[in-house]
Order: sequence, then C-alpha cells, then structure tokens
Amino acid sequence: MANKSSLIIIRTLLARLSLGAFCSGQALADELGLSRTAVANYIAQLQDLGLDIYSVKGRGYCLAHPITLLDAAEINTIEKNQRPPVLVHEITDSTNNQLLQRLGKDAKPELGTAIVAEAQTEGRGRRGRNWYSPFGTNLYFSMYWHLNHGLQAAMGLSLVVGIAIVRTLQAEYQITAKLKWPNDVYINQQKVAGVLVELAGQVDAVCDAIIGIGLNVTMPIEATKRIDQPFTTLAAHTSKSINRNQLVIALQTSLMEVLSEFCQHGFTPFVAEFNKVNQYQDKPIKVISSFEKIGVCRGVDKQGALLLDIDNRIEAIYGGEISVRGQD
Ligand code: BTN
Repeated sequence: MANKSSLIIIRTLLARLSLGAFCSGQALADELGLSRTAVANYIAQLQDLGLDIYSVKGRGYCLAHPITLLDAAEINTIEKNQRPPVLVHEITDSTNNQLLQRLGKDAKPELGTAIVAEAQTEGRGRRGRNWYSPFGTNLYFSMYWHLNHGLQAAMGLSLVVGIAIVRTLQAEYQITAKLKWPNDVYINQQKVAGVLVELAGQVDAVCDAIIGIGLNVTMPIEATKRIDQPFTTLAAHTSKSINRNQLVIALQTSLMEVLSEFCQHGFTPFVAEFNKVNQYQDKPIKVISSFEKIGVCRGVDKQGALLLDIDNRIEAIYGGEISVRGQD
C-alpha cells in the first residue's frame, strides 16, 4: 500500500492528468520536485492499478478517459446533517477489511458509516473470488450495519441491499437493472454490481454486518482480460455524466432507507419488489451448490429464500455458497 507522501504525489499527478490534456514528464517532475524517472515509476504504479494512461514520446502522459476523483470534502458536505460519515481511502486492501478492522476498536462506527476507495489491492467477491478493483473508475463501497437476529436476518439483508442498488440506478440514471438472486445486479444480462455481506460477532444474536458493494462505473481496457464473466458498466447505459461522489451519497441514502425498513418489518414488504426486478422470474434456472437442481424460478419468499419450481413442486433454497444460472 502507498505511504502518505506517495499518496500526495499520486493525487497531484491525477489532478494534473484529470484535466484531460497531455502532461509532459518534465513538467510533472518539476512541479512535484522529482526526477522524470520517479514520475515514470509513479505512472507505472497507476497503470498497474488499472488506470488507462497513454504515454506518447515527445508529448508526455494522458488519461484515456477523463476521471473525477472521489472527494471526501464534496461527499461530506452534501446533505451532511442527515447522513452518517463517509470515509474516503485512496488505495486500500479492501473496504470491507477496513470496516471490519474498525469493529475491533472500542467505539463502534455510527450505524451507516461508509468507506469508499479509489482502488483495492485485495478486493474480495463472493465464494472466495477476487474483485477486480482498478483505480479511479468504479465504486468500491462498504457500509456498517447491525442485525438483531444475526444469521437468520442475513439473507433478507443481502437481498434488500440489491434492491437499494436497483432503486439508486433507476432514480439517478433511469437505468432499469435486474437482480440475480441473491444480490448480483445486472443490466441487459451482464453484471454491473456485486454485493458481499460479511458478519462479525454472534451470528445467532445481535451481530455486526459489513455490506460491501462493487459497482462498475467505467472499466479500463485491461478489464476484459481480468474479469471472467460478462460484465457491463453504468457509463455504457447512460448519457448522463456520472459523478461518483453523488453516487456514493445516493447509495448510502438508499441503503439507510431500505435497511431501516428491513429492521422494522423484515423482508416481507420487499418480496413483490424483488420479484418484479428478478432477472429470472418465471424462467428456467439451474441452482448450483454441493448439489445441482434445475427448475423454474418463482421468485423469493418472505425469508428471502429462492423458490424453485421442480415439476410443480416448490422448493425453498436458502443462502450459502450457491450460484444460479439461467437456462435459456
Ligand atoms: C461479488 O462477488 O459479486 C461481490 C463483490 C463485492 C465487491 C465489493 S467492492 C467493496 C467491498 N470490498 C471488498 O473487498 N469487496 C466488496
């Protein structure tokens, strides 16, 4: 992970590059008080973190796409009074890890506290997979919540997080997204976001939940080599410019709303909404775990279990290491 002074250098480099024009290596070196070789090394680090930077002899460096950096000051001034804090990290291992570490400290974070990062070096996905987390392009977001009924409530919680993402995309960009149970978010059959909920404490009583969300906003060219399933980005589905700082607030606000309702009334009020945006509602699916089952997806029940219609007999499938595939 980069230390503080190198982070300041990286920030300054990005601030210059994000203006969109070519910057000569010498001009950057002069401004930063570094050698041109040192500048080239920092640029290489950013390229390793997945940022598309062109280097053209005689002209210098240029970003392939303009970016707006996450900005703690901007995030924390928008509707500040009604919201828990959002902490902005530049390069971190995993925003879920960072929140989990905070739980070990004396004072727990305020409910709804979020951490976002520009890049993750050890981003985690479900089922032990990595989550590719290039710099400055997507959203890597984790939020603290807690559950009064531990594991029993975890499944519903994970589903309502998906609903909060779908609502956010509709409200902010008029994008109609779908959910693949339990909580992958799809646009036109391609994954745009994933959710990783991790629990800490007593799983059968009050426990802490870290809600991790990876949301593709724009992806570097490298992504096609690094991601082994069909994926898409928000930018591919809207002509609106996407301000990630505003997106962070919209997501946090939507999550707070659904989670407060979920804590009061459970998953029942969300069943119809989930089924409406269910990617496979009434479609043939295969459920893969330690077993494989084929049937027609009939949505979810009020616990959030997946309902699989196997020859007119409905079987409820509960969470765990399960994956669902369409059979069309
Ligand atoms: C999935 O496999 O679909 C879940 C992906 C979750 C990725 C997010 S990015 C922010 C948070 N930090 C992590 O390490 N993982 C989650």
